[in-house]
Amino acid sequence: MAAQTYSGDMLQQQPEHRGHHASHGTVSLKASISAKPGTIRNVGVVKGDGELSYAKNSSSQAVAVQELISYIEDAVDITRLPNSAGPVVVADLGCASGSNTLKNIDIIVNRLKKRYLQSSCRQPDVSVYFNDLPSNDFNGLFQLVAEDTLTGYSSNTDAPAKYFPAGVPGSFYSRLFPESFVHVFFSSHCLHWLSKVPDAVMDRNSPAFNSNSCWIQDASEEVIAAYKDQSDKDLTDFLRCRAEELQSGGLLFLLFFARQTSHEILNNSLFGDFWRLLDLTLESLVSERILTEEQRSSFNIPTFARSMEEISEVIERFKSQFVVQKLEMLPIYHFADYFGRRCNNEEPKILAKKVLLMIRTTKEPLIEAHFGPALNKIFWERCTELLLSSDLVGKVYARVRKPEPLHQVLIALVRK
Ligand SMILES: C[S@@+](CC[C@H](N)C(=O)[O-])C[C@H]1O[C@@H](n2cnc3c(N)ncnc32)[C@H](O)[C@@H]1O
Repeated sequence: MAAQTYSGDMLQQQPEHRGHHASHGTVSLKASISAKPGTIRNVGVVKGDGELSYAKNSSSQAVAVQELISYIEDAVDITRLPNSAGPVVVADLGCASGSNTLKNIDIIVNRLKKRYLQSSCRQPDVSVYFNDLPSNDFNGLFQLVAEDTLTGYSSNTDAPAKYFPAGVPGSFYSRLFPESFVHVFFSSHCLHWLSKVPDAVMDRNSPAFNSNSCWIQDASEEVIAAYKDQSDKDLTDFLRCRAEELQSGGLLFLLFFARQTSHEILNNSLFGDFWRLLDLTLESLVSERILTEEQRSSFNIPTFARSMEEISEVIERFKSQFVVQKLEMLPIYHFADYFGRRCNNEEPKILAKKVLLMIRTTKEPLIEAHFGPALNKIFWERCTELLLSSDLVGKVYARVRKPEPLHQVLIALVRK
């Protein structure tokens, strides 16, 4: 599809939240804070650095950002920065934990520093705020960040800290920072996560009650409309909050999964195949009475890939606050690149399991929160069995060789 660019001025056994576990295999059976099914509290990624962790299964996301470095640098270049006094404030929204987080921030900080070096201005300190939901593995992240920045351990050296890190737990669909505080907001692979499963989709008396699938694949028009409404409201809330928090001239740089066309609700991609596998797994567990029908039909995944039109419509409402510096749908080959090129010699079944690990690392927190730890384990065992005995193995093999892009939208907005 033709890229659009505007440049210029411009989660049963216990439906409860589980305690932290640093790596898989040490699942805590202690249910702590009770979490309502479908709420944001259940969203997240697998913590720690174990085999199932996001840190170990997010290389394809890293490839995507690395491929877009020039876009990020160009956007940083047009950000209005303080002359020298006061810190430059950077915030990573939905930072997760792992090397991706550090790499993303390094791109921005290095570019900022380069700009000051090229000018006659003294380098200001840089403050980096790492935001994610309170359930995020902030401990793991801070360990990595401390090692990387030497901040706090460098009192005997004259070397300036790369940046001063801090954590901001909370939802980016609400205010996170004081007014006019931030110079650069960055967020990658996050905004397709909604603030919650739409209420109507969880309501048995609503025509939008989603009994057939765990997402919008094979769902009714009403279900899709409810997801669209939620997505519109969430993006609006997100932009309203950022408009309040950004300094004038400050940058909002976003990258998230989107739909290539408006009429296609589910891209014809590998992900669609895997959503169906999740449904097949649920169905199989219901047919064996391991899960009840009610447990199954109340499980929904709160993500939505917006179309360019849907995104533009929301941004248009903020035209008095933001100048659109970039709004572009990008066919990103990171998935194909990563799995196709780097896993090229893998056996088809091993390759399919690797893709499932990548899907699992962002879906397990939802499944575990909704069905409980014991059923979560059973779910993934069954899912793996079904995957390996299905024609999906061959499809995965073929798809990563095609190669086929996933569409993401890249947005750079500058605060007026
Ligand atoms: C797939 S990870 C992306 C991590 C990283 N930015 C990257 O590009 O690899 C998505 C992250 O968004 C976070 N997230 C989802 N909804 C959020 C919200 N409303 N507020 C803050 N973080 C959120 C999740 O907890 C998760 O850590």
